[in-house]
Amino acid sequence: MGRHRYIGALDQGTTSSRFILFDHGGRIVAGHQLEHRQIYPKPGWVEHDPLEIWQRCCDVIRATLQKSGVVADELVSIGVTNQRETVVCWNPKTGKPFYNAIVWQDMRTSDYIEALAADGGYDRFRLKTGLPLAAYFSGSKMKWMLDTIPGLRKAAAKGEAVFGTIDTYIIWQLTGGPGRGILVTDVTNASRTFLMNITELCWDQELLDLFSIPRNMLPEIRSSVAATAYGVTDGGGPLGGCLPISGILGDQQAALFGQACFERGSSKNTYGTGCFLLLHTGEEIVHSHHGLLTTVACRIGKQPATYALEGSVAVAGLLVQWVRDKLGLIKESGEIRELASRVKDNGGVYIVPAFSGLFAPYWRTDARGIIAGLTGYVDSGHIARAVIESTAFQTKDICDAMEKDSGLTFSELKVDGGAVVDELLMQFQADLLSIPVIRPEVTETTALGAAYAAGLSVGFWSGLSELKGHWREEKRWIASMGTDEREKQLRFWYKAVERTKGWLD
Ligand code: G3P
Repeated sequence: MGRHRYIGALDQGTTSSRFILFDHGGRIVAGHQLEHRQIYPKPGWVEHDPLEIWQRCCDVIRATLQKSGVVADELVSIGVTNQRETVVCWNPKTGKPFYNAIVWQDMRTSDYIEALAADGGYDRFRLKTGLPLAAYFSGSKMKWMLDTIPGLRKAAAKGEAVFGTIDTYIIWQLTGGPGRGILVTDVTNASRTFLMNITELCWDQELLDLFSIPRNMLPEIRSSVAATAYGVTDGGGPLGGCLPISGILGDQQAALFGQACFERGSSKNTYGTGCFLLLHTGEEIVHSHHGLLTTVACRIGKQPATYALEGSVAVAGLLVQWVRDKLGLIKESGEIRELASRVKDNGGVYIVPAFSGLFAPYWRTDARGIIAGLTGYVDSGHIARAVIESTAFQTKDICDAMEKDSGLTFSELKVDGGAVVDELLMQFQADLLSIPVIRPEVTETTALGAAYAAGLSVGFWSGLSELKGHWREEKRWIASMGTDEREKQLRFWYKAVERTKGWLD
């Protein structure tokens, strides 16, 4: 490949969208990021405006190209990665959304899920889907739209309503939108809808019937590294040229790929809006007995799919945003670190941010968040510290579950995502886990994973071993907390977690 050739990765996440250009060495050349609105119509409900998301995607693409001076001709291909489980319903003839996107954190279908679980338990579809019944996944959100939006079923019958996770929606827009856009998703995103059989990698009729979702509303399921490009960007769109789109990965699977975790036993933890620990299990589907999810890790072309065990935490960085936007304790998210560093410890405060119930390994839709251990001594610094520490505690919970399920013992933790700049969090994480925490040079691993998928597809990179050669350690944190202190911290954390459960009883 020539020197001035790049891959573009569009990362549409829960709170922001970013577009990043990578060079042949997997290095960041330029990028731009913009937040979008979080819409909370009722407690437990979370929505996004799909048109705003699309506008932000266009804006970040244009801004990146403008600031780098890179033109469409220099881009080899585009990869897309996205917040998973979030669902959009729109008219593919006009582009008009029927409703706001229902976001993965949204709990509006909890009662319906409870009713389903009452008949056969939370794990009744685990063998097929790898997932427990939970409001988190897309299927029940689609059913809610079909049951609630007047005329939606009729529109679907006429081909005037489709469902898509965010990858599908964005790619439909990028490839020309109304009347022209293509409708595709990949196996990793489809594995989070609760509608795909993870062994056969196709929509499952029993599950479509269960949620009464017409098959013709769903996109085609393709490989994550496309055997042949899914489609071509519209020349009149934000990229300003006709470029192949050839990689799609759900954002957590993308981060796994971007961290060069290609083999069984490799793992990463991403600190984003939520926190997601994935352990690669190769071609084997490992079913969890400790509250983890079994998910598709990737499918490269026509090769067999690979799988992962996943521990999902709903609220990590989101808690910092909440402190910023709802409590007003800080003006910028980054200020949480300065506030927390004013005190030497958490002052006895523990925050369990069960805003959307508890996710892995507890899966309690009836849980709600708490701040525990308040005394008159506590000030905003202690609260900030407890905010940061809650992410490390939640990660500790999923690491423990992962070790029990896999029989493996973690000897280190590869980390990425926005919060890995937080020294205090990284040190506390190493202390709680008693293992080194390792940050790579490129921490935008989600976008990098999508770029890798797109670039592999078009031959920009020769194969996985070349990509492995890009991964370089930048920093590691070594555990320094004594055993007694660690056990004391964990004891209080577990007590706080117990107090969140059954809140809605
Ligand atoms: O499953 C939800 C996940 O994909 C969201 O990721 O990075 O937007 O918090 P993020």
